[in-house]
Amino acid sequence: MRILIVYGSQYGTTKRYAQKCSELTDLPFINYEEVTDLTDYDLVVHFGGLYAGGVMGLKHTVKALRDSAGLIVATVGLADVSDPENTARIRQSIQKQLPEALFRRTKMFHLRGGIDYQRLSLKHKTMMALLYHRVRHLPESQKTAEDRAMLETYQSRVDFVDDRSLQPLVEEIRKFALPE
Ligand SMILES: Cc1cc2nc3c(=O)[nH]c(=O)nc-3n(C[C@H](O)[C@H](O)[C@H](O)COP(=O)(O)O)c2cc1C
Repeated sequence: MRILIVYGSQYGTTKRYAQKCSELTDLPFINYEEVTDLTDYDLVVHFGGLYAGGVMGLKHTVKALRDSAGLIVATVGLADVSDPENTARIRQSIQKQLPEALFRRTKMFHLRGGIDYQRLSLKHKTMMALLYHRVRHLPESQKTAEDRAMLETYQSRVDFVDDRSLQPLVEEIRKFALPE
């Protein structure tokens, strides 16, 4: 059983989860930008930062996968992943990024990352400023979990990375590696 961890991370929180997952499972991990061919792998675990709903690097990983390969997607975002409305939105967005048959057999996990406005690129600072001005006066009932997380953390530095949240994902990898 050949398994690989791939990650797409702009500012490092997703990479930290991928690295921790690699330590917990003894599996290798690699930046998606270094991936060319994944056809040797039975299972790929893709960790991706969420950027405007997109999972960083996921399209690249999917293109390199073997047709029959298993896929686990772990998203890392700012919004509260204990909010089912938020995780449903993330899953809808993953569905748009995967072919239907692959989506049906993909296991998904959702983790919380962080943000440090001082480190954001100009493009990302501008995107967040536009979003902030668009949503700050919305009635509470119209704000999504993403809107709320952004408003609560705007211009600050927060780190919600919690290694313990990896446990269900690690269990899933072990199940795949050691089928009963
Ligand atoms: C431009 C931009 C867009 C983002 N979009 C989302 C989003 O749609 N949903 C979400 O939960 N978090 C969103 N975030 C927060 C990131 O997902 C969060 O900072 C994550 O930890 C980044 O991962 P990284 O440090 O590995 O790059 C966004 C952040 C930026 C800067």
